[in-house]
Amino acid sequence: MSTLANYLDAHAKDPALSNVITTVTEVGKTISGLLKKGALADILGEAGNQNVQGEEQKKLDVLANDLLLDALAKNTHCAGVASEELDDATPANADGSLLVLFDPLDGSSNIDINMAVGTIFSILPYERQGQNSENSDFLQAGNQQLAAGYLLYGTSTVLALTIDDNVVMFSLDPDSGDYILINDHVQIAADTSEYAINASNYRYWLAPMQQYIDELIAGKTGVRGRDFNTRWVAAMVGDVHRILCRGGLFTYPFDTKYPNKAGKLRLMYEANPMSLLIERAGGAATDAINRILDIEPTDIHQRVPVVLGSKNEVNYVKDLHVQHAHS
Ligand code: F6P
Ligand code: MN
Repeated sequence: MSTLANYLDAHAKDPALSNVITTVTEVGKTISGLLKKGALADILGEAGNQNVQGEEQKKLDVLANDLLLDALAKNTHCAGVASEELDDATPANADGSLLVLFDPLDGSSNIDINMAVGTIFSILPYERQGQNSENSDFLQAGNQQLAAGYLLYGTSTVLALTIDDNVVMFSLDPDSGDYILINDHVQIAADTSEYAINASNYRYWLAPMQQYIDELIAGKTGVRGRDFNTRWVAAMVGDVHRILCRGGLFTYPFDTKYPNKAGKLRLMYEANPMSLLIERAGGAATDAINRILDIEPTDIHQRVPVVLGSKNEVNYVKDLHVQHAHS
């Protein structure tokens, strides 16, 4: 039985990377424990203030953010932290070689209804050791990530991780408190009949996305010639986990609901880490046309349209968008 510690010893080339991943996953155990207590831990409900995106913060969002921030600030390898819940990145240890970005509690509207939520993280290299990190140090394309992963707090707590060209999964054993390896080579099939989208935004989508979903709904009576099935967890971490387990397509597309926002999901701590996991498991991740991992960021909180999952389906969405741009 291989634990996360064994896995990192054997596979992480850089001890600093294993150390930072260990810090994040140890905090994950605490968050998992708080979620298990639920209402009894007095962590449900609004915290009464708004995050930088203008959304209400839940108590546990704040708690998860603070726990990660405190633990990483003490880690000598961590040069700085950027979080969905912080306006600006926080410098940590100037001599550290790594930057950590996270969404402390993805899908937080699920907390109060006892549904799945998760922590998403991305680790980037820090190039200015000896000096305090700043927002601009974090503005690196997703293809620079040294590691990425998520913790899904579902019926059990699962860690998905990539530190090389492989994606692995661990399950948190509630008895021993260890993360136990459950899949040492996660792979996504190229084809799928399952898709995830919040269809209530249909009227705000671009024409090629509307056409795509129309085709899926037409099923075997339409051009696709087969039926498709919808799933929507309302927490990206849950939808991506399903795709790593059994394939599928997930999209939060460009829409015109909020014209000043390019999409809903955040590039640096949602789209990039998930795209790295998906690509390394054999899938694809785009903004409908371009590879997400090649986007050069301009803001730590920037939003991006996301289409990810089974390769042939992601490519089909891209073809529709390219055809439409040329028509
Ligand atoms: O972090 C944003 C997020 O909560 C994602 O985890 C999830 O996929 C999406 O928003 C849910 O959006 P909606 O509220 O439109 O269903
Ligand atoms: Mn999120």
